[in-house]
Amino acid sequence: MKMKKLAIAALCALVANGAFAAKKATDTTPEEDLKTYRDYFFKRFPGVPLQEYANGVYAIDKVSRDSWEAIEEFPPYEPMIEEGETMWNTPFANGKTYGSCFNDDPAQRKHFPRWDDERKTVVTLPMAINECRSKNGEKPLKYKKGAIANLLAYMAYESRGQKTNVKIPNKDALAAYDKGKTVYFARRGQLNFSCASCHMQSAGQKVRADILSPVLGHTTGWPVYRSKWGELGTLHRRFGGCMKQMRAKPYKAQGEEFRDLEYFLTHVSNGIEFNGPSARK
Ligand code: HEC
Repeated sequence: MKMKKLAIAALCALVANGAFAAKKATDTTPEEDLKTYRDYFFKRFPGVPLQEYANGVYAIDKVSRDSWEAIEEFPPYEPMIEEGETMWNTPFANGKTYGSCFNDDPAQRKHFPRWDDERKTVVTLPMAINECRSKNGEKPLKYKKGAIANLLAYMAYESRGQKTNVKIPNKDALAAYDKGKTVYFARRGQLNFSCASCHMQSAGQKVRADILSPVLGHTTGWPVYRSKWGELGTLHRRFGGCMKQMRAKPYKAQGEEFRDLEYFLTHVSNGIEFNGPSARK
C-alpha cells in the first residue's frame, strides 16, 4: 500500500501545523473536547448538520455520496441483518437465548460502550455478546467479522435512531477515556501519523483514492459492509486496518487499548444517532 509522495507531504505539513498536535490527554475534559471538535468541523464544513456526520465521508463529499445513496437503496448488508435476527432467536444448547442477557431487547446500541465500575473496564457490545455466550456455555465468537458482525448488524438495525450518549461517570472512567484519547493522538509507524492526523487535521483531503472522513460520527454506523472487504466487518477491524495503513502493529480487537479508543471516539459522537449497519466503499 503505497501512498503518493505528494499526498504524504501535504498531510505532514498539515499535521505539523495542526491545531490538535501533541496535546496531553488530560489537559482538556470530555465536555471541552466535544465542543472543540464540533466547533472545528462546523467551521471546516459549514452547513453540514451534526447528524450528517453519521454518514462518514459521504457527509462531506458530494461525488461519492451519489453512488453510496444508490447502494443504500438495496443494502448489501440486508441478508446479514436477517442472519443476525436468526441468531438472536435461536436458543443456545442450554435452551436460553441472547435475550436472557439483554432484557429480551435487541435494541442495545445506546447502552454501549459503557464503563463497568466493578471490573474497572470499558464494556463494548461485542464483548457483552461474548460474555453472554460464555455464561451460557457457548464458545466466544471472533471479533472482526462473521457471525458476531451479523448479530451486531441485527442489534444495530433494531437500535437505529437511538442517540449516542456515552457517560463518563467517575475518575476511573475518565482515565479510560484519556487512555483512548492518547491512543488517538499518538504518532506511530514509519509515517509518524496519528489517527488525528488523518481524521481531524486532514478530514476532507485526499489520500490516494480516498477522501478522509471526519472523526465525528465514526462509531455510529457499525458494523459496516465495505465493498473492499466484500463483507461485513466490525469497528475494531477498521481500527486495525487503519493502524496497518499507518504501518504500525494493530492492537488486538476488543483488547483494552481498542476498547478505550472506542470509549473516547463514541463520546466524541455524543448526540449523533446510531444508523448502523451501513455501507462503505
Ligand atoms: C493515513 C491516514 C489515516 C490514518 C492515520 C488513520 N486512518 Fe482511519 N481511515 C483512513 C481512510 C483512507 C479511511 C477510509 C475513508 C474514510 O472514511 O475516511 C479511513 C476510515 C476510518 C474509519 C471508518 C469511517 C467510516 O465512516 O466508515 C474509522 C472508524 C477510522 N478510519 C478510524 C481510524 C483510527 C481509530 C485511526 C488510528 C488508529 C485511524 N483511522 C488512522 C485513513 C487513515
